[in-house]
Amino acid sequence: MAFSLEQAVPILMRKEIDWAEKNFPAVPEKIPDVVAEDPGWRRQWLNTKRSIDQGQGAPKRPNDPKRRRDVAHYLAMLGHLEFELIVLGCSYAARNYEMPAAWKMCILKQGYDDMQHAASFITRASRMIEEDLWAGIPVPYRKSVDLYRPILQRDLGGFLAAVGLHTEAYPAWTNLSGGGAITDPVIGAWSLHEIEEEAWHLTFLMPAIKQYLHTGTDEEQDRRTRQMVADDQYFIEQAVQPAYKNAKEFAVGRLGMNPEVLYGYEHLNERTQHIYRTIGIEEGYWPAYLKNS
Ligand SMILES: [Fe+2]
Ligand SMILES: [Fe+2]
Repeated sequence: MAFSLEQAVPILMRKEIDWAEKNFPAVPEKIPDVVAEDPGWRRQWLNTKRSIDQGQGAPKRPNDPKRRRDVAHYLAMLGHLEFELIVLGCSYAARNYEMPAAWKMCILKQGYDDMQHAASFITRASRMIEEDLWAGIPVPYRKSVDLYRPILQRDLGGFLAAVGLHTEAYPAWTNLSGGGAITDPVIGAWSLHEIEEEAWHLTFLMPAIKQYLHTGTDEEQDRRTRQMVADDQYFIEQAVQPAYKNAKEFAVGRLGMNPEVLYGYEHLNERTQHIYRTIGIEEGYWPAYLKNS
């Protein structure tokens, strides 16, 4: 059945999607300070900007129908994941965990921004193959949701590990956008803007995690820090390593993305060290492999 945004999405949500498909933001000349501050988003922004400046900024959708389907399903999967993990995770945390009202609002603001990214990914993917991918996608992705949810719903620390670190701080480093999302002209046109919004999310999350880890008695701070490292290592093993394998096989192998997009995965320890330093986890808490790398 042909895809109709009018049928798939109510007007309240649709008007912003519609607007963003017809109006593109200006391409900044200079990297915004908030982006430059994070080494991950900084690299992604500069790579994306370079490909826009080199005229790859208005990419065509893939011609080969098989490849187009793969790209569309991949893009729609990213959208559904961003929605279920980040947006629903943020609303769960804001509703259920004790924290200052301003923190809850930051979390909901993050959820709102990421909801727009998700809506755009799903819509553009649907247009790419003229199929309604809002209704669902024929690729298995529930496993990732099931992996994150129990920890995200355990306590505030679990949420910050899952949605603070693993759907925000790590993707800033490993995200494939430099060569990936840009296969769609609308997503390509919004990509620098999207990176900037994501970098803004980190301005809240990283200090918030630092404060969370350094609140309470010494015992409590010790417990929170150990738990954060344990959650982080669990996600690295269960989510990041499989995503690396998938990026190699699927994104580079099958979709033909430039192997440069794997840089973040190949230098993952560097990111973990940066994150631990930024959120104030002392080396005494680091796993041995990190201290030696
Ligand atoms: Fe996002
Ligand atoms: Fe985000």
